[in-house]
Amino acid sequence: MFDSEARLVIDWCRRLAAHTEVPGTITRRCLTDPMRLVHRDLMAWMTRLGLSATVDAAGNLRGVRAAAVTPARTLYLGSHLDTVLDAGAFDGILGVIWALAVVESLGDLPLPAHIEVLGFSDEEGVRFGTPFIGSRALIGTCDEELLRRTDDAGVTLRDALKAFGAHPRDRGDAIAAADAIGYLECHIEQGPVLEHLDRPLGVVEHIVGQTRADITFRGLARHAGTTPMHLRHDAGAGAADWMSAVEQLTSQTPGAVATVGRISVEPGAVNVIPGVCHASVDVRHAIDATRRALIVRLREAADRIATRRGLTVAWIEQLDQSAVTMDASMTAALVEAVEKAAIPYERMTSGAGHDAMVLASRMPVGMLFVRSPGGISHHPDETVRVEDVGAAIAVGRECVLAIAGGLRV
Ligand code: HGY
Ligand code: MN
Ligand code: MN
Repeated sequence: MFDSEARLVIDWCRRLAAHTEVPGTITRRCLTDPMRLVHRDLMAWMTRLGLSATVDAAGNLRGVRAAAVTPARTLYLGSHLDTVLDAGAFDGILGVIWALAVVESLGDLPLPAHIEVLGFSDEEGVRFGTPFIGSRALIGTCDEELLRRTDDAGVTLRDALKAFGAHPRDRGDAIAAADAIGYLECHIEQGPVLEHLDRPLGVVEHIVGQTRADITFRGLARHAGTTPMHLRHDAGAGAADWMSAVEQLTSQTPGAVATVGRISVEPGAVNVIPGVCHASVDVRHAIDATRRALIVRLREAADRIATRRGLTVAWIEQLDQSAVTMDASMTAALVEAVEKAAIPYERMTSGAGHDAMVLASRMPVGMLFVRSPGGISHHPDETVRVEDVGAAIAVGRECVLAIAGGLRV
């Protein structure tokens, strides 16, 4: 079903993957020139479909299919357009292009609701160290503190928005309609569950909560050749100790995952004992109290290691995102659509974070997962199957008709 549309969606994902900051990889952070090219290409499709295409104050790409009647409420569809470093071609952007394919499948069918396609500017948080910048603008929390955050080059979010042509002072215009019907996001599963169960699609019931933090160990930079081992205060070795503790304490916490994904030492010379070591940590669990209790243990371990080694340690929390349950009516609409199409599916919890968890604070949200062959994501080998994307388009179309069509005209 919808195989030709699915092939078109996959082809678009692969073509837009060429808009990258690092040739040879797929790397597209928010508000960069490659992102501008993605906007250019998707706006052309939006315009061809008769959508009103704009870029909002947070750099989100937005395309509105107007309702046949006014006043009308809005059903949002979409996902994010930014990527991690050396990413795959489908994380995020599949959900934006899926939304355009669903809108295209509606043809000129008059609906009593606006359908708005969203391409969020930043969900991964790679450039400014905190995620969900784009979707936060729709709930009104893209605040001054966020605008003051800087990237590795010292550029503030505010200046990056202005350089991109967005106007952060108009952030109020980006806020989602107060009477929004809801938000549907289609996303690759990014894990092995659907493949293991041989299911094309998943209906997300919950998204785990996550904490992200930056940890800095400080010791004494000294000569690597002349400083005896027992006289060292090695910040790098302290961080390595702590990484082992993170793995051990997290493994002892059923259902928890924790990752030290970024680490760097200073001064970074081969023959100098690291005086400083910066590390990140990403901790997730379906139950917030369990996650926060684990964070306490990870911080205590860092303090113990620092004391034993004569180091200092600083912990800066960058994100505390609570676990989110999807809206029952949106989830029911997805289940009904999948069952009507007789597509095998699985109800599941998402270990990955998504913009849906941000919008959930302001409107009903639902999520549809597409199988990730090999369970691979955040990697160039990330892929999807044509028949699964076709199934997702069919389900998306059915859902939009059921949700939007279910309104009083
Ligand atoms: O990290 C995540 O969960 C998502 O890929 N942003
Ligand atoms: Mn991702
Ligand atoms: Mn994603």
